[in-house]
Amino acid sequence: MAFYFMIPLFASIFFIFLFNFLLNLFKSKKSRDLPLPPGTLGWPYIGETFQLYSQNPNVFFASKQKRYGSIFKTHILGCPCVMISSPEAAKFVLVTKSHLFKPTFPASKERMLGKQAIFFSQGQYHAKLRKLVLRAFVPEAVKSFVSNIESIAKDSLQSLEGRLITTFQEMKTYTFNVALLSIFGEDEVKYREDLKRCYYILEKGYNSMPINIPGTLFNKSMKARKELAQILAKIISTRRETKQEYNDLLGSFMGDKEGLTDEQIADNIIGVIFAARDTTASVLTWIIKYLGENPSVLQAVTDEQEAIVKGKEKCGEEQTLSWADTKKMPITSRVIQETLRVASILSFTFREAVADVEYEGYLIPKGWKVLPLFRNIHHSPEIFPDPEKFDPSRFEVVPKPNTFMPFGNGTHSCPGNELAKLEIMVLLHHLTTKYRWSMVGTNSGIQYGPFALPQNGLPIRLIRKS
Ligand code: HEM
Ligand SMILES: *[C@@H]1O[C@H](CO)[C@@H](O)[C@H](O)[C@H]1NC(C)=O
Ligand SMILES: *[C@@H]1O[C@H](CO)[C@@H](O)[C@H](O)[C@H]1NC(C)=O
Repeated sequence: MAFYFMIPLFASIFFIFLFNFLLNLFKSKKSRDLPLPPGTLGWPYIGETFQLYSQNPNVFFASKQKRYGSIFKTHILGCPCVMISSPEAAKFVLVTKSHLFKPTFPASKERMLGKQAIFFSQGQYHAKLRKLVLRAFVPEAVKSFVSNIESIAKDSLQSLEGRLITTFQEMKTYTFNVALLSIFGEDEVKYREDLKRCYYILEKGYNSMPINIPGTLFNKSMKARKELAQILAKIISTRRETKQEYNDLLGSFMGDKEGLTDEQIADNIIGVIFAARDTTASVLTWIIKYLGENPSVLQAVTDEQEAIVKGKEKCGEEQTLSWADTKKMPITSRVIQETLRVASILSFTFREAVADVEYEGYLIPKGWKVLPLFRNIHHSPEIFPDPEKFDPSRFEVVPKPNTFMPFGNGTHSCPGNELAKLEIMVLLHHLTTKYRWSMVGTNSGIQYGPFALPQNGLPIRLIRKS
Protein backbone atom coordinates (compact mmCIF):
# COMPACT_ATOMS: atom_id res chain seq x y z
CA MET A 1 0.00 0.00 0.00
CA ALA A 2 2.60 2.39 1.16
CA PHE A 3 4.45 1.66 -2.02
CA TYR A 4 1.74 3.31 -4.10
CA PHE A 5 2.01 6.41 -2.04
CA MET A 6 5.70 6.41 -2.64
CA ILE A 7 5.41 6.56 -6.38
CA PRO A 8 4.10 10.09 -6.56
CA LEU A 9 6.69 11.04 -3.91
CA PHE A 10 9.53 9.58 -5.97
CA ALA A 11 8.05 11.07 -9.05
CA SER A 12 7.83 14.48 -7.54
CA ILE A 13 11.39 14.26 -6.18
CA PHE A 14 12.46 13.11 -9.60
CA PHE A 15 10.67 16.01 -11.20
CA ILE A 16 12.16 18.45 -8.73
CA PHE A 17 15.62 17.14 -9.63
CA LEU A 18 14.88 17.26 -13.31
CA PHE A 19 13.48 20.73 -13.01
CA ASN A 20 16.53 21.93 -11.06
CA PHE A 21 18.83 20.30 -13.54
CA LEU A 22 17.13 22.02 -16.45
CA LEU A 23 17.00 25.29 -14.57
CA ASN A 24 20.71 25.08 -13.84
CA LEU A 25 21.41 24.20 -17.43
CA PHE A 26 19.44 27.24 -18.47
CA LYS A 27 21.00 29.41 -15.78
CA SER A 28 24.53 28.41 -16.60
CA LYS A 29 23.80 29.49 -20.14
CA LYS A 30 22.93 32.78 -18.47
CA SER A 31 26.31 32.50 -16.74
CA ARG A 32 25.22 32.51 -13.06
CA ASP A 33 26.91 29.18 -12.38
CA LEU A 34 30.20 30.20 -13.85
CA PRO A 35 33.06 30.49 -11.40
CA LEU A 36 34.26 33.88 -10.25
CA PRO A 37 37.79 34.77 -11.32
CA PRO A 38 40.54 33.49 -8.95
CA GLY A 39 41.73 35.65 -6.09
CA THR A 40 40.83 36.55 -2.53
CA LEU A 41 38.30 39.01 -1.16
CA GLY A 42 39.98 39.60 2.22
CA TRP A 43 38.10 40.87 5.27
CA PRO A 44 34.42 41.82 5.13
CA TYR A 45 33.91 45.41 4.00
CA ILE A 46 37.53 46.56 4.21
CA GLY A 47 38.57 43.71 1.94
CA GLU A 48 42.14 44.16 0.78
CA THR A 49 42.15 47.95 0.96
CA PHE A 50 45.03 48.00 3.45
CA GLN A 51 47.16 45.67 1.37
CA LEU A 52 46.58 48.00 -1.56
CA TYR A 53 47.34 51.23 0.26
CA SER A 54 50.04 50.03 2.63
CA GLN A 55 52.52 49.73 -0.21
CA ASN A 56 53.15 51.02 -3.66
CA PRO A 57 49.81 50.11 -5.31
CA ASN A 58 51.67 48.81 -8.33
CA VAL A 59 53.38 46.17 -6.17
CA PHE A 60 49.93 44.99 -5.04
CA PHE A 61 48.67 44.71 -8.62
CA ALA A 62 51.83 43.04 -9.87
CA SER A 63 51.98 40.44 -7.09
CA LYS A 64 48.29 39.57 -7.57
CA GLN A 65 48.83 39.14 -11.27
CA LYS A 66 51.83 36.92 -10.67
CA ARG A 67 49.81 34.73 -8.34
CA TYR A 68 46.47 34.56 -10.16
CA GLY A 69 47.08 35.53 -13.78
CA SER A 70 45.71 38.32 -15.90
CA ILE A 71 42.19 38.29 -14.42
CA PHE A 72 41.59 38.14 -10.67
CA LYS A 73 39.12 39.29 -8.06
CA THR A 74 39.73 41.39 -4.99
CA HIS A 75 37.81 43.71 -2.68
CA ILE A 76 38.77 47.33 -2.13
CA LEU A 77 37.10 50.38 -0.59
CA GLY A 78 33.92 48.44 0.11
CA CYS A 79 33.55 47.13 -3.44
CA PRO A 80 34.16 43.67 -4.85
CA CYS A 81 36.09 44.05 -8.06
CA VAL A 82 37.72 42.22 -10.92
CA MET A 83 41.10 43.44 -12.10
CA ILE A 84 42.22 42.68 -15.62
CA SER A 85 45.63 43.04 -17.17
CA SER A 86 45.71 41.50 -20.63
CA PRO A 87 45.32 43.47 -23.88
CA GLU A 88 42.40 41.19 -24.89
CA ALA A 89 40.50 41.80 -21.65
CA ALA A 90 41.10 45.55 -21.84
CA LYS A 91 39.73 45.56 -25.37
CA PHE A 92 36.68 43.56 -24.21
CA VAL A 93 35.86 45.98 -21.38
CA LEU A 94 36.76 49.30 -23.01
CA VAL A 95 36.00 48.73 -26.69
CA THR A 96 33.97 45.74 -27.87
CA LYS A 97 31.66 45.34 -24.84
CA SER A 98 31.88 48.88 -23.50
CA HIS A 99 28.07 49.07 -23.26
CA LEU A 100 28.22 46.42 -20.50
CA PHE A 101 30.64 48.46 -18.38
CA LYS A 102 29.70 51.93 -17.23
CA PRO A 103 32.08 54.50 -15.81
CA THR A 104 31.87 54.81 -12.04
CA PHE A 105 33.27 57.25 -9.49
CA PRO A 106 32.71 57.86 -5.77
CA ALA A 107 29.64 60.12 -5.30
CA SER A 108 31.63 62.84 -3.53
CA LYS A 109 33.93 63.23 -6.56
CA GLU A 110 30.92 63.43 -8.84
CA ARG A 111 29.49 66.23 -6.73
CA MET A 112 32.73 68.13 -6.84
CA LEU A 113 33.40 67.86 -10.55
CA GLY A 114 29.76 68.06 -11.55
CA LYS A 115 27.28 65.24 -12.03
CA GLN A 116 26.74 66.03 -15.69
CA ALA A 117 30.42 65.91 -16.65
CA ILE A 118 31.45 63.72 -19.59
CA PHE A 119 33.31 61.06 -17.56
CA PHE A 120 30.21 60.04 -15.61
CA SER A 121 27.80 60.02 -18.53
CA GLN A 122 26.62 57.27 -20.84
CA GLY A 123 24.50 56.66 -23.92
CA GLN A 124 23.13 59.53 -25.95
CA TYR A 125 24.10 62.34 -23.60
CA HIS A 126 27.67 61.02 -23.54
CA ALA A 127 27.78 60.73 -27.33
CA LYS A 128 26.60 64.31 -27.71
CA LEU A 129 29.16 65.67 -25.23
CA ARG A 130 31.91 63.68 -26.84
CA LYS A 131 31.11 65.08 -30.25
CA LEU A 132 31.28 68.62 -28.87
CA VAL A 133 34.54 67.99 -26.98
CA LEU A 134 36.22 66.24 -29.90
CA ARG A 135 35.24 69.07 -32.23
CA ALA A 136 37.38 71.40 -30.11
CA PHE A 137 40.32 68.98 -29.75
CA VAL A 138 40.80 67.31 -33.13
CA PRO A 139 44.13 68.17 -34.82
CA GLU A 140 42.37 70.62 -37.16
CA ALA A 141 41.19 72.64 -34.15
CA VAL A 142 44.27 72.25 -31.96
CA LYS A 143 46.48 73.45 -34.85
CA SER A 144 45.19 76.99 -34.50
CA PHE A 145 46.55 77.22 -30.95
CA VAL A 146 50.22 76.44 -31.65
CA SER A 147 51.50 80.01 -31.47
CA ASN A 148 49.45 80.84 -28.36
CA ILE A 149 50.71 77.72 -26.64
CA GLU A 150 54.21 78.69 -27.65
CA SER A 151 53.99 82.10 -26.01
CA ILE A 152 52.60 80.53 -22.81
CA ALA A 153 55.56 78.09 -22.82
CA LYS A 154 58.15 80.84 -23.40
CA ASP A 155 56.69 83.05 -20.67
CA SER A 156 56.58 80.16 -18.21
CA LEU A 157 60.19 79.18 -18.79
CA GLN A 158 61.39 82.77 -18.65
CA SER A 159 59.75 83.28 -15.28
CA LEU A 160 61.63 80.26 -13.92
CA GLU A 161 65.12 81.18 -15.11
CA GLY A 162 67.84 80.84 -12.52
CA ARG A 163 65.42 79.67 -9.83
CA LEU A 164 65.17 76.57 -7.71
CA ILE A 165 61.72 75.27 -8.65
CA THR A 166 59.35 72.42 -7.94
CA THR A 167 58.89 71.06 -11.45
CA PHE A 168 55.40 69.62 -10.93
CA GLN A 169 54.09 72.85 -9.38
CA GLU A 170 55.34 74.96 -12.29
CA MET A 171 54.17 72.48 -14.92
CA LYS A 172 50.70 72.63 -13.35
CA THR A 173 50.64 76.38 -13.92
CA TYR A 174 51.67 75.85 -17.55
CA THR A 175 49.11 73.11 -18.26
CA PHE A 176 46.39 75.09 -16.47
CA ASN A 177 47.03 78.10 -18.70
CA VAL A 178 47.02 75.93 -21.84
CA ALA A 179 43.77 74.26 -20.72
CA LEU A 180 42.15 77.69 -20.24
CA LEU A 181 43.40 78.73 -23.69
CA SER A 182 41.76 75.68 -25.27
CA ILE A 183 38.50 76.38 -23.42
CA PHE A 184 38.22 80.19 -23.66
CA GLY A 185 40.55 81.01 -26.55
CA GLU A 186 42.43 84.28 -26.29
CA ASP A 187 39.88 85.57 -23.76
CA GLU A 188 41.68 83.24 -21.39
CA VAL A 189 44.04 85.86 -19.91
CA LYS A 190 41.13 88.00 -18.66
CA TYR A 191 39.75 85.24 -16.45
CA ARG A 192 42.97 83.44 -15.55
CA GLU A 193 43.50 84.75 -12.02
CA ASP A 194 39.89 84.42 -10.82
CA LEU A 195 39.50 80.96 -12.27
CA LYS A 196 42.85 79.88 -10.86
CA ARG A 197 42.03 81.08 -7.35
CA CYS A 198 38.72 79.16 -7.28
CA TYR A 199 40.06 76.06 -8.97
CA TYR A 200 42.95 75.77 -6.51
CA ILE A 201 40.52 75.82 -3.56
CA LEU A 202 38.25 73.32 -5.29
CA GLU A 203 41.05 70.82 -5.88
CA LYS A 204 42.25 70.98 -2.25
CA GLY A 205 38.95 69.39 -1.27
CA TYR A 206 39.14 66.67 -3.89
CA ASN A 207 40.85 64.10 -1.69
CA SER A 208 39.33 65.31 1.58
CA MET A 209 36.63 63.60 3.62
CA PRO A 210 33.30 64.44 2.01
CA ILE A 211 31.76 66.11 5.07
CA ASN A 212 29.71 69.12 4.06
CA ILE A 213 29.62 71.31 7.18
CA PRO A 214 31.08 74.83 7.46
CA GLY A 215 34.82 74.90 7.97
CA THR A 216 35.69 71.59 6.33
CA LEU A 217 37.87 71.42 3.22
CA PHE A 218 34.99 69.79 1.41
CA ASN A 219 32.62 72.66 2.26
CA LYS A 220 35.19 75.27 1.13
CA SER A 221 35.73 73.31 -1.99
CA MET A 222 32.00 73.18 -2.75
CA LYS A 223 31.83 76.92 -2.19
CA ALA A 224 34.70 77.49 -4.64
CA ARG A 225 32.84 75.33 -7.12
CA LYS A 226 29.78 77.55 -6.85
CA GLU A 227 31.93 80.62 -7.45
CA LEU A 228 33.53 78.96 -10.48
CA ALA A 229 30.09 78.28 -11.90
CA GLN A 230 29.18 81.95 -11.37
CA ILE A 231 32.29 83.16 -13.22
CA LEU A 232 31.48 80.76 -16.06
CA ALA A 233 27.88 81.97 -16.19
CA LYS A 234 29.20 85.53 -16.57
CA ILE A 235 31.54 84.52 -19.41
CA ILE A 236 28.71 82.67 -21.13
CA SER A 237 26.31 85.60 -20.94
CA THR A 238 28.97 88.02 -22.22
CA ARG A 239 29.51 85.74 -25.20
CA ARG A 240 25.78 85.43 -25.87
CA GLU A 241 25.58 89.22 -26.20
CA THR A 242 28.45 89.51 -28.68
CA LYS A 243 27.09 86.72 -30.92
CA GLN A 244 30.60 86.06 -32.27
CA GLU A 245 31.77 82.59 -33.40
CA TYR A 246 34.47 80.97 -31.30
CA ASN A 247 36.49 77.90 -32.23
CA ASP A 248 37.38 76.97 -28.64
CA LEU A 249 35.70 74.44 -26.33
CA LEU A 250 33.24 76.93 -24.85
CA GLY A 251 32.32 77.97 -28.38
CA SER A 252 31.66 74.32 -29.24
CA PHE A 253 29.49 73.82 -26.14
CA MET A 254 27.51 77.01 -26.78
CA GLY A 255 27.13 76.48 -30.51
CA ASP A 256 25.33 73.17 -30.22
CA LYS A 257 21.86 73.40 -31.72
CA GLU A 258 20.27 71.09 -29.19
CA GLY A 259 21.86 73.27 -26.57
CA LEU A 260 23.52 72.43 -23.28
CA THR A 261 22.30 74.13 -20.13
CA ASP A 262 24.66 76.52 -18.35
CA GLU A 263 24.99 73.93 -15.61
CA GLN A 264 25.99 71.22 -18.07
CA ILE A 265 28.55 73.56 -19.62
CA ALA A 266 29.99 74.43 -16.19
CA ASP A 267 30.24 70.76 -15.14
CA ASN A 268 32.07 69.91 -18.32
CA ILE A 269 34.45 72.85 -18.28
CA ILE A 270 35.47 72.09 -14.71
CA GLY A 271 35.77 68.44 -15.76
CA VAL A 272 38.06 69.21 -18.68
CA ILE A 273 40.34 71.36 -16.53
CA PHE A 274 40.50 68.50 -14.07
CA ALA A 275 41.28 65.93 -16.80
CA ALA A 276 43.81 68.14 -18.54
CA ARG A 277 45.96 69.74 -15.89
CA ASP A 278 47.58 67.31 -13.44
CA THR A 279 47.81 64.51 -15.98
CA THR A 280 49.82 66.53 -18.49
CA ALA A 281 51.86 68.23 -15.75
CA SER A 282 52.93 64.93 -14.23
CA VAL A 283 53.93 63.53 -17.63
CA LEU A 284 56.08 66.66 -18.21
CA THR A 285 57.64 66.20 -14.77
CA TRP A 286 58.56 62.57 -15.55
CA ILE A 287 60.00 63.56 -18.95
CA ILE A 288 62.22 66.18 -17.32
CA LYS A 289 63.40 63.58 -14.83
CA TYR A 290 64.12 60.88 -17.43
CA LEU A 291 65.93 63.33 -19.72
CA GLY A 292 68.01 64.47 -16.74
CA GLU A 293 68.98 60.87 -15.99
CA ASN A 294 69.71 59.87 -19.60
CA PRO A 295 72.25 62.32 -21.08
CA SER A 296 72.46 60.57 -24.46
CA VAL A 297 68.67 60.71 -24.89
CA LEU A 298 68.68 64.39 -23.85
CA GLN A 299 71.40 65.06 -26.43
CA ALA A 300 69.39 63.36 -29.19
CA VAL A 301 66.27 65.38 -28.32
CA THR A 302 68.26 68.63 -28.13
CA ASP A 303 69.86 67.93 -31.53
CA GLU A 304 66.45 67.26 -33.06
CA GLN A 305 65.01 70.48 -31.64
CA GLU A 306 68.04 72.56 -32.62
CA ALA A 307 67.75 71.26 -36.17
CA ILE A 308 64.28 72.83 -36.31
CA VAL A 309 65.67 76.19 -35.12
CA LYS A 310 68.56 76.01 -37.61
CA GLY A 311 66.26 75.04 -40.47
CA LYS A 312 64.32 78.26 -39.91
CA GLU A 313 67.46 80.40 -39.65
CA LYS A 314 68.64 79.05 -43.01
CA CYS A 315 65.40 79.98 -44.76
CA GLY A 316 65.19 83.32 -42.94
CA GLU A 317 61.83 82.21 -41.53
CA GLU A 318 60.32 83.64 -38.37
CA GLN A 319 61.43 81.78 -35.23
CA THR A 320 58.01 80.53 -34.22
CA LEU A 321 56.90 76.93 -34.16
CA SER A 322 54.31 75.71 -36.62
CA TRP A 323 52.07 72.65 -36.57
CA ALA A 324 54.27 71.21 -39.35
CA ASP A 325 57.35 71.58 -37.10
CA THR A 326 55.72 69.41 -34.46
CA LYS A 327 55.55 66.62 -37.06
CA LYS A 328 59.35 66.75 -37.41
CA MET A 329 60.04 65.51 -33.90
CA PRO A 330 60.20 61.69 -34.09
CA ILE A 331 62.81 61.31 -31.35
CA THR A 332 60.97 63.68 -29.01
CA SER A 333 57.72 61.81 -29.74
CA ARG A 334 59.29 58.50 -28.78
CA VAL A 335 60.57 60.03 -25.52
CA ILE A 336 56.99 61.12 -24.78
CA GLN A 337 55.64 57.64 -25.59
CA GLU A 338 58.25 55.87 -23.51
CA THR A 339 57.57 58.20 -20.58
CA LEU A 340 53.84 57.52 -20.87
CA ARG A 341 54.63 53.80 -20.78
CA VAL A 342 57.18 53.68 -17.94
CA ALA A 343 55.44 56.22 -15.71
CA SER A 344 51.88 55.05 -16.62
CA ILE A 345 50.50 57.92 -14.57
CA LEU A 346 46.95 56.59 -14.81
CA SER A 347 47.79 53.05 -13.68
CA PHE A 348 44.20 51.90 -14.14
CA THR A 349 40.65 53.05 -14.72
CA PHE A 350 37.29 52.08 -13.17
CA ARG A 351 34.18 50.60 -14.71
CA GLU A 352 31.12 48.82 -13.26
CA ALA A 353 29.41 45.81 -14.84
CA VAL A 354 25.78 46.74 -15.69
CA ALA A 355 24.81 43.06 -16.10
CA ASP A 356 26.28 39.64 -15.36
CA VAL A 357 29.04 39.29 -17.92
CA GLU A 358 30.91 36.18 -18.97
CA TYR A 359 34.55 36.54 -19.86
CA GLU A 360 36.84 33.58 -20.68
CA GLY A 361 34.63 31.20 -18.69
CA TYR A 362 34.49 33.46 -15.64
CA LEU A 363 31.55 35.39 -14.28
CA ILE A 364 31.85 39.12 -13.70
CA PRO A 365 28.74 39.74 -11.58
CA LYS A 366 26.49 42.74 -12.16
CA GLY A 367 27.46 45.65 -9.93
CA TRP A 368 31.09 44.59 -9.49
CA LYS A 369 33.81 47.08 -10.34
CA VAL A 370 36.11 46.21 -13.20
CA LEU A 371 39.58 47.72 -13.33
CA PRO A 372 41.65 47.52 -16.51
CA LEU A 373 45.25 47.80 -15.22
CA PHE A 374 47.03 49.86 -17.87
CA ARG A 375 50.27 49.88 -15.95
CA ASN A 376 50.47 46.08 -15.75
CA ILE A 377 50.00 45.84 -19.52
CA HIS A 378 52.63 48.55 -20.11
CA HIS A 379 55.06 46.72 -17.81
CA SER A 380 54.51 43.22 -19.15
CA PRO A 381 57.88 41.71 -20.15
CA GLU A 382 56.20 39.73 -22.97
CA ILE A 383 55.00 42.96 -24.55
CA PHE A 384 57.84 45.32 -23.59
CA PRO A 385 61.07 43.39 -22.89
CA ASP A 386 63.06 44.71 -19.90
CA PRO A 387 60.02 46.82 -18.99
CA GLU A 388 61.58 48.90 -16.19
CA LYS A 389 64.24 50.26 -18.52
CA PHE A 390 63.66 53.71 -20.06
CA ASP A 391 64.38 53.11 -23.74
CA PRO A 392 62.57 55.34 -26.25
CA SER A 393 63.95 53.35 -29.19
CA ARG A 394 61.50 50.54 -28.42
CA PHE A 395 58.82 52.75 -30.03
CA GLU A 396 60.61 52.62 -33.39
CA VAL A 397 58.28 49.65 -33.83
CA VAL A 398 54.59 50.55 -33.55
CA PRO A 399 53.05 48.74 -30.55
CA LYS A 400 50.31 46.16 -31.19
CA PRO A 401 46.67 47.13 -30.62
CA ASN A 402 45.67 47.44 -26.95
CA THR A 403 49.19 46.94 -25.62
CA PHE A 404 49.90 50.66 -25.20
CA MET A 405 46.95 52.71 -23.94
CA PRO A 406 48.16 55.79 -22.07
CA PHE A 407 45.02 57.57 -23.28
CA GLY A 408 42.70 54.60 -22.79
CA ASN A 409 40.67 53.18 -25.67
CA GLY A 410 37.07 53.00 -26.86
CA THR A 411 34.04 55.11 -25.96
CA HIS A 412 35.65 57.07 -23.11
CA SER A 413 39.23 57.32 -24.40
CA CYS A 414 41.01 60.64 -23.99
CA PRO A 415 39.76 63.32 -26.38
CA GLY A 416 42.58 65.65 -25.24
CA ASN A 417 45.49 63.48 -26.38
CA GLU A 418 46.47 65.67 -29.37
CA LEU A 419 46.50 68.78 -27.23
CA ALA A 420 48.48 67.03 -24.50
CA LYS A 421 51.15 65.85 -26.95
CA LEU A 422 51.32 69.26 -28.62
CA GLU A 423 51.81 71.24 -25.41
CA ILE A 424 54.45 68.77 -24.23
CA MET A 425 56.39 69.09 -27.51
CA VAL A 426 56.22 72.88 -27.52
CA LEU A 427 57.54 73.10 -23.97
CA LEU A 428 60.32 70.57 -24.67
CA HIS A 429 61.36 72.54 -27.75
CA HIS A 430 62.10 75.68 -25.72
CA LEU A 431 63.39 73.82 -22.69
CA THR A 432 66.00 71.79 -24.57
CA THR A 433 67.17 74.51 -26.98
CA LYS A 434 67.53 77.31 -24.42
CA TYR A 435 68.01 75.78 -20.98
CA ARG A 436 69.89 73.23 -18.96
CA TRP A 437 68.76 71.96 -15.59
CA SER A 438 70.08 70.02 -12.65
CA MET A 439 68.08 67.93 -10.25
CA VAL A 440 68.35 68.90 -6.60
CA GLY A 441 68.48 66.39 -3.75
CA THR A 442 67.93 62.67 -3.91
CA ASN A 443 65.51 61.84 -6.67
CA SER A 444 64.81 58.15 -6.51
CA GLY A 445 61.54 58.23 -4.54
CA ILE A 446 58.06 58.11 -5.97
CA GLN A 447 54.95 59.57 -4.34
CA TYR A 448 51.41 58.42 -5.05
CA GLY A 449 48.39 60.59 -4.80
CA PRO A 450 46.57 60.10 -7.02
CA PHE A 451 49.16 59.94 -9.80
CA ALA A 452 52.66 58.59 -9.48
CA LEU A 453 55.09 61.52 -9.24
CA PRO A 454 58.81 61.89 -8.55
CA GLN A 455 59.43 62.61 -4.87
CA ASN A 456 58.63 66.19 -3.82
CA GLY A 457 57.50 67.08 -7.33
CA LEU A 458 61.08 67.00 -8.66
CA PRO A 459 62.99 70.05 -7.42
CA ILE A 460 65.34 71.36 -10.14
CA ARG A 461 67.42 74.41 -10.89
CA LEU A 462 66.85 75.87 -14.34
CA ILE A 463 69.67 77.77 -16.05
CA ARG A 464 69.64 79.58 -19.38
CA LYS A 465 72.25 78.29 -21.82
CA SER A 466 74.78 80.94 -22.74
C1 HEM B 1 49.25 63.30 -20.97
C2 HEM B 1 48.11 63.72 -20.49
C3 HEM B 1 46.85 62.92 -20.43
C4 HEM B 1 46.67 61.59 -20.17
C5 HEM B 1 47.73 60.55 -19.86
C6 HEM B 1 45.23 61.33 -20.27
C7 HEM B 1 44.65 60.09 -20.09
C8 HEM B 1 43.30 59.83 -20.19
C9 HEM B 1 42.69 58.52 -20.10
C10 HEM B 1 43.45 57.21 -19.88
C11 HEM B 1 41.35 58.67 -20.25
C12 HEM B 1 40.30 57.55 -20.27
C13 HEM B 1 39.85 57.19 -18.89
C14 HEM B 1 38.88 56.03 -18.91
O1 HEM B 1 38.68 55.34 -19.93
O2 HEM B 1 38.28 55.79 -17.85
C15 HEM B 1 41.10 60.09 -20.40
C16 HEM B 1 39.84 60.64 -20.55
C17 HEM B 1 39.62 61.99 -20.74
N1 HEM B 1 40.59 62.97 -20.93
FE1 HEM B 1 42.58 62.73 -20.86
N2 HEM B 1 44.59 62.50 -20.56
C18 HEM B 1 45.53 63.49 -20.69
C19 HEM B 1 45.32 64.82 -21.02
C20 HEM B 1 44.08 65.37 -21.30
C21 HEM B 1 43.86 66.71 -21.76
C22 HEM B 1 44.95 67.72 -22.09
C23 HEM B 1 42.50 66.87 -21.86
C24 HEM B 1 41.69 68.05 -22.31
C25 HEM B 1 42.05 68.95 -23.10
C26 HEM B 1 41.89 65.61 -21.47
C27 HEM B 1 40.53 65.39 -21.42
C28 HEM B 1 39.94 64.17 -21.15
C29 HEM B 1 38.49 63.97 -21.07
C30 HEM B 1 37.41 65.04 -21.24
C31 HEM B 1 38.29 62.60 -20.81
C32 HEM B 1 36.94 61.87 -20.63
C33 HEM B 1 36.44 61.34 -21.95
C34 HEM B 1 35.13 60.56 -21.85
O3 HEM B 1 34.72 60.17 -20.75
O4 HEM B 1 34.50 60.36 -22.90
N3 HEM B 1 42.87 64.72 -21.15
N4 HEM B 1 42.30 60.77 -20.38
C1 LIG C 1 28.53 74.20 3.81
O1 LIG C 1 27.88 73.58 4.91
C2 LIG C 1 26.63 74.15 5.27
C3 LIG C 1 26.11 73.41 6.51
O2 LIG C 1 25.96 72.05 6.28
C4 LIG C 1 25.64 74.05 4.12
O3 LIG C 1 24.41 74.66 4.47
C5 LIG C 1 26.22 74.74 2.92
O4 LIG C 1 25.35 74.58 1.82
C6 LIG C 1 27.59 74.15 2.59
N1 LIG C 1 28.17 74.87 1.49
C7 LIG C 1 28.17 74.40 0.24
C8 LIG C 1 28.71 75.31 -0.77
O5 LIG C 1 27.80 73.27 -0.04
C1 LIG D 1 41.73 50.28 -29.55
O1 LIG D 1 41.02 49.12 -29.94
C2 LIG D 1 40.94 48.93 -31.32
C3 LIG D 1 40.08 47.68 -31.53
O2 LIG D 1 40.64 46.59 -30.85
C4 LIG D 1 42.32 48.77 -31.92
O3 LIG D 1 42.26 48.63 -33.31
C5 LIG D 1 43.18 49.99 -31.55
O4 LIG D 1 44.50 49.80 -32.00
C6 LIG D 1 43.16 50.18 -30.05
N1 LIG D 1 43.91 51.38 -29.70
C7 LIG D 1 45.01 51.35 -28.97
C8 LIG D 1 45.59 52.68 -28.59
O5 LIG D 1 45.55 50.32 -28.61
